[in-house]
Amino acid sequence: MIQIDQYFMGYGQAEQERLQRRAEMLASDAQGLFDRIGVFPGARVVEIGCGPRGCLDLLAERVGQRGSVTGFERNEEAVRLARQFVAERKLVNVDVVHADGRVTGLPKGAWDFATARFVLVNVPHPEQIIAEMAALVRPGGTVALYEVDWAGCLLRSATACLEPACRSTSSLCGDE
Ligand SMILES: C[S@@+](CC[C@H](N)C(=O)[O-])C[C@H]1O[C@@H](n2cnc3c(N)ncnc32)[C@H](O)[C@@H]1O
Repeated sequence: MIQIDQYFMGYGQAEQERLQRRAEMLASDAQGLFDRIGVFPGARVVEIGCGPRGCLDLLAERVGQRGSVTGFERNEEAVRLARQFVAERKLVNVDVVHADGRVTGLPKGAWDFATARFVLVNVPHPEQIIAEMAALVRPGGTVALYEVDWAGCLLRSATACLEPACRSTSSLCGDE
């Protein structure tokens, strides 16, 4: 089977703007998750696949001036937009690196948190990114992933005739 390692929504302007809008919409959700994993002032954080914005601003605010946030993004245009966003917001503790998050080249075991949102769902070998994230964090550090659970939401029926199909899919996925 051929596995295409490309972001299937593409990198056009409309998609980049959609990602920026969605980041805004998901901000309070993301804040809640960062509360739960305990991102603390002074922490060193890596965000893999940050796109044109991701969670860079939220993380920057949390870690403060003593901390640092490094975004990794493999698409040049998304990197340009992320850097523009960082400059406009004057996020002095954020760096955006144009590189593949599977091989960041960063020192291993030196980071407190490694995060990614809606990245694994788009790549054929998510385990490669997870392995890099796990290697980057120090012992006791945190790898935090925010992803879609397609198995749980592929089929939800509004019509009675589809109910049996939904039930059998849900049970296959372990929902029941
Ligand atoms: C759906 S976008 C999500 C962007 C951002 N995380 C957010 O939540 O708004 C997925 C991003 O992951 C990036 N990406 C996918 N694989 C990557 C990799 N191996 N290294 C760096 N970036 C990657 C894509 O280029 C794309 O910008």
